[in-house]
Amino acid sequence: MIAIYPGSFDPITYGHLDIINRCANKFTKVIVAVLNNQNKSVVFSTEERVSMIKELTSGYDNVQVDNFEGLLIDYAKKMKADVIVRGLRAVSDYEYEMQMSLYNKQLCPEVETMFLVSDTKYSYLSSSIVKEIASYGGEISNFVPSTIEERIKAKYGCK
Ligand code: COA
Repeated sequence: MIAIYPGSFDPITYGHLDIINRCANKFTKVIVAVLNNQNKSVVFSTEERVSMIKELTSGYDNVQVDNFEGLLIDYAKKMKADVIVRGLRAVSDYEYEMQMSLYNKQLCPEVETMFLVSDTKYSYLSSSIVKEIASYGGEISNFVPSTIEERIKAKYGCK
């Protein structure tokens, strides 16, 4: 089965990596799909986000990293995906995720959305929180791998 794991990944965190790892162990192929052209303003360009994820997932034979524009469900059909995977961190994620999955299901019933409950270690984590802490010079090494930490610090001019 082919799974797509979509998101902004601005930047990727240990929470995302946990989901990728678990997907890679369950699916034949995992496509980590970075959203391009979003309304959300981003700190890292699409190319930067893709290359950071590629670097961190190079050890997996069955993980591919790509970017997409437009509707996720169109991309999922183009890539012949069976499943869209989303991580659920807390109940607060549920309403938005349910709406998105029902919308996608209506457009393409063959593509299922599956939810993986985030590891409790990462249930409070988000890319924005990591960026905010870094912008004030705070410690982020528990949230992102060292290569990502360096890049975030460089963006915010921290040492
Ligand atoms: N661990 C840590 N953080 C996590 C996480 C996890 N397991 N899962 C989600 N997050 C965080 C992200 O870091 C992100 O944080 P931020 O808001 O601070 O940047 C936040 O949760 C939102 O996550 P993300 O997965 O990037 O979702 P999104 O809402 O930005 O994008 C898409 C979701 C890409 C799937 C959706 O916008 C989409 O499909 N867009 C394409 C257009 C489309 O088809 N629209 C119709 C959809 S119904």
